Amino acid sequence: MANGPTVRRTVSALRRSLVPFRKAGERIALVPTMGALHRGHLALVREARRRARRVVVSIFVNPSQFAPHEDFGSYPREYKKDITALTAAKVDLVWAPSAEAMYPHGFATRIEPQGAAKAGLEDKFRPHFFGGVATVVTKLFTQTAPYFALFGEKDYQQLRVVTQMAKDLDLPVKIVGVPTVREPDGLALSSRNAYLSVQERATAPTLYRVLIAGAARVKRGEPLEMVLEEARAEIAHAGFGLDYLEARHALTLAPVASRKDGPIRLLVAAKIGKTRLIDNVGV
Ligand code: PAJ
Repeated sequence: MANGPTVRRTVSALRRSLVPFRKAGERIALVPTMGALHRGHLALVREARRRARRVVVSIFVNPSQFAPHEDFGSYPREYKKDITALTAAKVDLVWAPSAEAMYPHGFATRIEPQGAAKAGLEDKFRPHFFGGVATVVTKLFTQTAPYFALFGEKDYQQLRVVTQMAKDLDLPVKIVGVPTVREPDGLALSSRNAYLSVQERATAPTLYRVLIAGAARVKRGEPLEMVLEEARAEIAHAGFGLDYLEARHALTLAPVASRKDGPIRLLVAAKIGKTRLIDNVGV
C-alpha cells in the first residue's frame, strides 16, 4: 500500500507540518469533515486536489455542534477505514485533534453567525448548530490557514453560513461549494444513512424525487406555495416526519414568495424512523 497521509493531533504539530508547504509556496486546500467518510467527502477531496498542491483533511466529531439529545455519542467513527480511503485519495495530511486539543480546558469563545444562520430551516430545529459549526470551522481555518476550503452543497445552509462568515471576518480563505453526491436512486450520501433500516432505506430517496419534481414545477411557473404544500403532503404520505420543506433565496436563504424574488433553493429536512435526513436542490 502507498504511504498514508501524515496524521497530526495537536495544533503545534499541525503547524510544524505545514511550514514546509508554505515555504515552498504550495497552496493548501482544507476539507473539514467529521469522518465516517463516503464518496461525498471524497468528491470534496478530489476537488481539493484539483485546486491545490497540498490537501489537508480534518476529522473531528465536533461536540459543540451537537445538542445533548442528538447523536454525538453514536455518530459513526471509522478512523481506520477513513485513513485507508484518504491514503488512496493521496491526501497529504490528516488533522485529527482530540476534543481537548480543539477545546482546551478553559475554552470560552463562540462565534454566533447571523443572517443565513438565523433564517430558520436547520437553525429552528438545531439552534446550537451553526454556532458550533462556525466556531470549529473558524478554528480549523486559523489552525490550517488554507487557500481553499471545500464544503458540500448537501449541507446547503452550512455552506452559505461559512461563506458569509469568511467574508464578514475577512478570513483569507476561498470557500468552494461542491455539488451533492448521490446514490443511483437519488439519495444524498450521508454518514447518517448507516442508521437506516432496509425499509427506511427504500423510502429515503422520496425526498430527492419530491424536490426535483417540485423544482421542475416551480420552474414551469406553478405557484410556489401550492407546489410546496403538495410536496409536503407527499413526503408525509411516504411515512416521513417532516421538519421543513421550504423555498428560499439561494444566497441569503431569506423566504421567497415567487420566482421573481431571486434564485431559489428548495430545502428539506425530515425524519424517517429515528434518522433525520436533509437535502436540497436548486430551481
Ligand atoms: P460532515 O457531515 O462530515 O461533512 C463534511 C463535508 O462533506 C461537508 O462540507 C458536507 O457538506 C460534505 N458532504 C456530506 N455529504 C455529502 C454529499 N453527499 N455530497 C457532497 N458533499 C457532502 O459538515 C460537517 O461534517 C461538519 O459540520 C463540519 C463542517 C466538518 C464542521 O464540524
